[in-house]
Amino acid sequence: MENFKSSIDIVSQLAPDLPIAANRPHAVKRAANWFVRNFAGDVLYAVKANPSPWVLDAMWEAGVRHFDVASIVEVETIFNRFPSATLAFMHPVKNRNAITRAYFEFGVRIFSLDSMEELQKILEATNYAQDLTLMIRLSVSNSASSISLDGKFGIKGEKAVELLRAARSVTREDLGICFHVGSQCMDPQAYVKAMDVAKSTIIQAGVVIDIIDVGGGFPVNYRDMSPAPMSQYMQVIAQKFETMPVTENCALWCEPGRAMVAEATSIIARVELVKDDFIYLNDGAYGNLFDATHVNWPFETEHLRINGNSSKEHKAFRIFGPTCDGIDELNNEYFLPIDIKEGDYIEFKMLGAYGVAMTTNFNGFGQNIEVITCDDAHVSMFTETKDISKNQFFKK
Ligand SMILES: Cc1ncc(COP(=O)(O)O)c(C=O)c1O
Repeated sequence: MENFKSSIDIVSQLAPDLPIAANRPHAVKRAANWFVRNFAGDVLYAVKANPSPWVLDAMWEAGVRHFDVASIVEVETIFNRFPSATLAFMHPVKNRNAITRAYFEFGVRIFSLDSMEELQKILEATNYAQDLTLMIRLSVSNSASSISLDGKFGIKGEKAVELLRAARSVTREDLGICFHVGSQCMDPQAYVKAMDVAKSTIIQAGVVIDIIDVGGGFPVNYRDMSPAPMSQYMQVIAQKFETMPVTENCALWCEPGRAMVAEATSIIARVELVKDDFIYLNDGAYGNLFDATHVNWPFETEHLRINGNSSKEHKAFRIFGPTCDGIDELNNEYFLPIDIKEGDYIEFKMLGAYGVAMTTNFNGFGQNIEVITCDDAHVSMFTETKDISKNQFFKK
């Protein structure tokens, strides 16, 4: 990938027709390194947020050795790139053949599940393996998060108690509990409440638990959102972990996706037409701007013009993507210079997570140019320099 100093440099030198993913490996390393130093346990990168090779390499360089993989393609990708990595297959509903291949071809031993049916499937698909680490996915509140994952996965109450006991009886290796508080979780206490659900389920089941996995959901500084400092999340989780009814050797895990990569990519889209207050871009809902469309987030933007200045006066525009589909529209008004025109570019910041990863080829679009840039797009969550004494909380 070619290297540039800034977004205006990129468009001035390339004047591209295709959308550009302006990537910042230094931002991935900063976030990953921060998590590795400050989370009181093991950090598993949730690969789905961005599986690009440059992201994976930056993770590895920053010291990440554990990966949350959620499909056989992700298993294969990480295994081929980092044969010594620990892979945890954290999708609670897996294809039977994918489980078999993950276990026998790629050495995966960690599987998550939220039903008796999946437990039976995992046992059959691994030929009743004796060395499985089973992670029971609990259903917890997602009310503090911007994107709820509640409802689709997770088990609770008496059923969770029965599943924990059943899983304990079939594995000689570790038994864990995992959950997901929802993505872009704005309140650190959501993790504490979820750990309370885990705590009472463990007490009711009366089983030995070897791993507590607090999942993903850690937030980033999107426009109009101000999460608590990341150190608060680390602290409340570490403190709550100390009170869990688990053994001295119990491990603590997390699976951040968004927070590890969001800051690391800007999407730079070209203006194809301006018609009154409608702007048509070469990128949109089916491309890199999925979250801007479907989650309704107002991403931070910057207007870029190759030659000359634009008006200081701004007005609200509706922004449309390149496909012929009517829903290909960004779900917010964007304030941009009143004289914005064809050939200008708009930089959308903080799209390293669920950006390039969501691109489809619908309607013949979906290709990007990938470059590296060494600037910083936005206020980072990871500028807190003081380590929050991982060892003070770390049990193992
Ligand atoms: C099991 C699991 N872990 C981790 C993540 C990552 O979540 P986030 O990107 O909110 O950190 C996801 C996201 O869907 C998930 O399903």
